[in-house]
Formats: sequence, C-alpha cells, structure tokens
Amino acid sequence: MDEMNGIAYQNGGSILLEKVRETVQYIEKQTTIRPKIGIVLGSGLGGFVDQIEDQVVIPYEDIPHFPISTAPGHRGRLVLGRVADREVLCMQGRFHYYEGYSMQEVTYPVRVMQRFGVQSLILTNAAGGLDPQFVPGDLMVIRDHINFLGTNPLIGPNEASFGERFIDMSKPYALDLIETAKRAAKEEQVDLKEGVYVSYSGPSFETAAEIKMFQLLGGSAVGMSTVPEVIVANHSGVRVLAISCITNLGTGILDQPLSGEEVMVVAAEAGEKFQGLLKCILQMMPEENNE
Ligand code: HPA
Repeated sequence: MDEMNGIAYQNGGSILLEKVRETVQYIEKQTTIRPKIGIVLGSGLGGFVDQIEDQVVIPYEDIPHFPISTAPGHRGRLVLGRVADREVLCMQGRFHYYEGYSMQEVTYPVRVMQRFGVQSLILTNAAGGLDPQFVPGDLMVIRDHINFLGTNPLIGPNEASFGERFIDMSKPYALDLIETAKRAAKEEQVDLKEGVYVSYSGPSFETAAEIKMFQLLGGSAVGMSTVPEVIVANHSGVRVLAISCITNLGTGILDQPLSGEEVMVVAAEAGEKFQGLLKCILQMMPEENNE
C-alpha cells in the first residue's frame, strides 16, 4: 500500500474512493430520501436544523470513516429531511484545518455528499468583517475567495473519477445561486452583503497587521473554513452557494479584543434572520437542482 498526502492506493484502486463508498452505503441504509441539496451549518448557525421536517439524525461518530467534530458550537450530526418541500442533507457542524485534520479529512464529507447525489451545496460560516461598512450580524454572500491556507485539498494523486487534475476556478460560486440568494434576501428584507472571503487557518485570530493585509488584498471577510470545501465541490461538479455571518469586525478595526464566545453569541443572535433567508433560498432554488 502506498500513501501520499492522505490518499492511499492499493492494487491500483483508491482507498479514498472505497471509504467514500462505504460511508455512502451506511447513510443510504438510514433513510430512503436522496437529497440533491447539501447544507453545511457553520459556527453558531446549527439552529437551522429546527426547520427540518421528518428528520433522520445520524451522529458523526456512528458514520464509518467520518471525522468527529471538535470545534465549539459544532454538534456533529447529519440531519436529513425536508425544508420548504425540498429534501436536504444538513451537516450540523463541520471539520476545520485548525482541528488538526488533513485537508482530505476536512473535505471528506463533500466527497460523500457528491457520491450520495448532492448537486448543490450551501455552505455557511461565521466570519470576521474586513469591510469597515459591515456590522456584526450582517450576512454576506460569497462571490469569490482568496485561499490563504497555504495548502489545497486537491494536492496529491488525482482521483480521476472525482474530477480533473487541474480545475477551473473562474466561477467557484454558482452565479445563478448568488442571484437566487439576492432575490431571497429582498423577499425577506435582509440587507445581504456580497464579497470576497479570505481563508485563514486559525485557530488564533488574525493580528491587526494581517487584517490590514487582507483588506489590501481585496478581501471582504475572513474565516477559518469553507474554502477547502468549495475547492473539492468544484472538483467534482457540485455547485456552491456560500453565506457568511459577520460576527465581528477583524482585529484592530475596532479597538476591542476578539473571542470565540463573541463569535458564537452574535451568530446565534443573527440566527432568525439567517434561518429565514436560508429557507427562502431553498424555496426559490431552481427545480432542476431538486429533482
Ligand atoms: N477571523 C477569523 N475567523 C472568524 C472571525 C475572525 O475575525 N470571526 C468569526 N470567524
């Protein structure tokens, strides 16, 4: 057996592919529904699962080959069911690079969702605002990103059945889903911002100098997740919509220290607005994504 960057190969077949198959089979045994929409709920945003009807709940620790959530505010469960008449597969809690997981582990659930049949993925996160116009509690749809993690989940042997070696990233966030999010925001009377998300490994928050650099680079918000998932989704043709909840302004923009607790509290306070928007987006998502 050879191992390279977390992807092991045996007898010419990928062990990653085999693991994904086993994970998918396990999930398929728990429910008859086959959602085409996946949702990842970020820090403090897990309350959205209350909107899901006919829930089938699967704790991550029961799922073969699934990592375990260690981040505060991440429950660590898959919740499948219906919202606004749409079938959804919802991850209540995700995996971050700062937890010590490899990039392959961080993005493993995206591989699983894709093989399970998910075609559109809605990613959510808590983020720090870089745009000084933003206020805590604002929601921002991500138009583009800057990968500042210094690594990439596609490094290593390419599994051709997932996607190509070199993938286009000119439109990593589906333009029609961004438009849908904007229409839903209008309907819900939410002042939805739009911008560029910068990924930073954490778990320390940024310094004031780093925040200044990210502003100069053209970033609108900074956070510790999402970008690896977006890259892997794009690798295998899963369409992405991503929304940040701005829980604070970046270090040094206001003269106050940051804490993880503040992030959680503000995200939870924005919860009602966030849940209303997400539900409306699901209602408005084009039918071809849901058949
Ligand atoms: N920086 C990075 N990640 C974050 C922040 C921040 O200010 N707020 C919430 N997640």
